[in-house]
Amino acid sequence: MGEMVYARYLLNGDPVERARLRRAANEDVFGVQIATNDVGEGVAAMRLAREAGADFVDLNCGCPIHEATRRGLGSALLRNPKRCEAEPSDGDTLPVHSTDKTFPPSTHRLGELVRGLVDGGVDIPLTVKVRLGTSNRDINVLEVAEEMVGAGAAGLTVHGRSAQERYSSAANWAMIKEVVERVDSRIPVVGNGDVLTFDGGIRRIETAGVDSVMVGRGALETPWVFDEGGWEPDTKERVEVYRRLACYMKEHFGDDGRGRKMASYFFPWHFEFFCRHSPGKESMQSRLSDMDTNPPPLESLLACRDQRAHKRIAGILWDSRDDGDAVTKLTELAESAVMGEIRRGVKEEDGEGGVEELSNIPGEDKRARKRRAPKPKRTEMEVEKIRAERKAKREAAGITDFKHVSGKRRGS
Ligand SMILES: Cc1cc2nc3c(=O)[nH]c(=O)nc-3n(C[C@H](O)[C@H](O)[C@H](O)COP(=O)(O)O)c2cc1C
Repeated sequence: MGEMVYARYLLNGDPVERARLRRAANEDVFGVQIATNDVGEGVAAMRLAREAGADFVDLNCGCPIHEATRRGLGSALLRNPKRCEAEPSDGDTLPVHSTDKTFPPSTHRLGELVRGLVDGGVDIPLTVKVRLGTSNRDINVLEVAEEMVGAGAAGLTVHGRSAQERYSSAANWAMIKEVVERVDSRIPVVGNGDVLTFDGGIRRIETAGVDSVMVGRGALETPWVFDEGGWEPDTKERVEVYRRLACYMKEHFGDDGRGRKMASYFFPWHFEFFCRHSPGKESMQSRLSDMDTNPPPLESLLACRDQRAHKRIAGILWDSRDDGDAVTKLTELAESAVMGEIRRGVKEEDGEGGVEELSNIPGEDKRARKRRAPKPKRTEMEVEKIRAERKAKREAAGITDFKHVSGKRRGS
């Protein structure tokens, strides 16, 4: 799946949203996920997704963030699932509201929206991703599932939490199983929530009866989760995986000062997930804090949650000549006085041992983002060289080039 695309910004030509339609050369099946509450807009976005080579389009009805729900998008669509028997009259107020003037209130209930998208004339399957409901008091996923089948959805992904819960509790797989029973094989049901290992995913398929599982944070924590053999890398092998990411970033951003600077925005973010990995972990909700075990220095460095450590690790992975060099330098860092100090700081913040709540995606340090220095500039020649290299790579991989789309760039 690609990342959620706001249909409206996509249609306005936003290059960031447009980039989210891109399919990687090694993706056998690729779906584009759109956020919309309007049939005309959604159909136009589906057309663009299809032209870009998507195999299917997914409608996001699960996103709980205010940026989406205040526009009547994402999980806000769950408030009003039923299709109308008759056309809504003028006095028929719909609870799907919007406080953003550029996103007027939807005139569609979710069922109508999906029916409209399915019947919109774009020859591509439409699936829908939902949560259990907007809040724990409004769990309506069974009703929603029924509506989605009736409206012609080609598949349904159920994230086993309410929008209000965000990520704060364990996913409710019993409820996902109820959805499977209600849908009764009329369309495929994909279960989502807390799938952390390959075997764990298989177990969910067997016990909940879902047709498949969707992996979320597990893929960010444990990028090898899709390995069918259940590979469990040791510490050094994990360093190799993380260094491979550094190499991909070099390829993508360019192996120069500007590329390094760009990667330094993203790499530490990944480490906020990597550091949560612990072999055999079956629950996303908790893990023993660093104080409860006494791991070797390199392992303890990789498990360190401090952003200062993440920045240093990122720098070493970027600069190291090869995997062996990375392991040596990271081990030196792990044993250094500076890491000792960082670890002591983390322990003091944690208090005395206990269980750390890993309830949410990593927080963003907004003040730090505001203080960001301006992006370094490349010369025209450097830009041309990088463009030519990327084009050659895309052509070699058989990916057709995107036409340049002009439009106002939106921060993302
Ligand atoms: C960084 C991040 C980005 C996400 N982006 C999307 C998205 O674009 N569309 C979507 O439907 N869900 C998105 N999700 C939610 C996941 O797809 C998934 O539903 C959720 O993380 C629960 O699964 P998990 O418990 O396996 O993480 C995102 C989650 C994370 C952590």
